[in-house]
Amino acid sequence: MNLVLFGPPGAGKGTQSAFLIERKGFSHISTGDLLRGAIKAQSELGLKAKKIMDQGQLVPDDVVIGLVEEKLKADPNGSFIFDGFPRTHAQAEALDALLEGMQSPVKAALFLEVAQEDLLKRLTGRRVCQNCGATYHVALKPPAKEGVCDVCGGPVIQRPDDKEEVIAKRLEAYERSTAPLKAYYQGQGKFVSVDGEGPVEEVYRRLERQIDSAS
Ligand code: AP5
Repeated sequence: MNLVLFGPPGAGKGTQSAFLIERKGFSHISTGDLLRGAIKAQSELGLKAKKIMDQGQLVPDDVVIGLVEEKLKADPNGSFIFDGFPRTHAQAEALDALLEGMQSPVKAALFLEVAQEDLLKRLTGRRVCQNCGATYHVALKPPAKEGVCDVCGGPVIQRPDDKEEVIAKRLEAYERSTAPLKAYYQGQGKFVSVDGEGPVEEVYRRLERQIDSAS
C-alpha cells in the first residue's frame, strides 16, 4: 500500500514517517532527505539544490521526480510512505503515472493539519542530527546532552532552512504550490485530513486509524 503524507513545513511528516517505518514496515521516500543526502555528498545535484533550499524555494520538478523514480525502481514491490513528495501538480501527476506502471496506486493522501503559529514554533525550535537525521526540538524534545544526538552521538544542529526568514519563504512556497494538492486528491477521493496537533503518539494513533481503515 502506498501512502502520501503531506502538509505544511513542520507539520510532523518526518516525525510520523519514522513511526510508520518502525511500526508498520513502510519504506520511506522523503525528497527532502534525498536532497540533503545529495548536499552532504557534495554532488553536482546537491550543490544546485542547496542554493534553492537555502532560499526556501522548491527544487525543479524534473530533479525530484528523477530521484523518486530511481528509489521506486530499486524497490518495485515496496509499500511506500511519500514524505514531502509530491509538492506540485506536476509531481502528483508524475507519481500517479509511475505507480500506475507498477500497478500500485496511491491508496490515500494523509494531510497533517497544524495551525500556522504552531508550525512556526516547531520549525524555529527544531534541531536535527547532522549524521543520522534524528529530529529534536529545543523545548519539546531536546537531546539528553545538548548538541549531541541520543541515537548516534552525532552533532545536533539547526537546519539552514529553519531560520525564520527562510521559513517564511517555505510557507509561501507551500501555499502557492502544495496546498492546491488537497483539491487534487479530493478529486480522486483519496484525501484524508488528520489533526496533527497534540502529542506525537496521539497524532500517530489518528494516522494509524486512517491507515488501518484504508487497507
Ligand atoms: P523537507 O525536508 O521535505 O521539509 P518540509 O516539507 O518543509 O518539512 P519539514 O521537514 O520542515 O517538516 P516535517 O513536516 O517533516 O516536520 P518534522 O516531523 O520534522 O524539504 C526541505 C526543502 O527541500 C524544501 O523547502 C525544498 O526546497 C526541497 N524539497 C523537498 N522536497 C521537494 C519536492 N518534492 N519538490 C521540490 N522541492 C523539494 O517536525 C518539525 C518539528 O516539530 C520537530 O522539531 C519535531 O520534533 C516537532 N514536532 C513534530 N510533531 C510534533 C507534535 N505533534 N507536537 C509538537 N512538536 C512536534
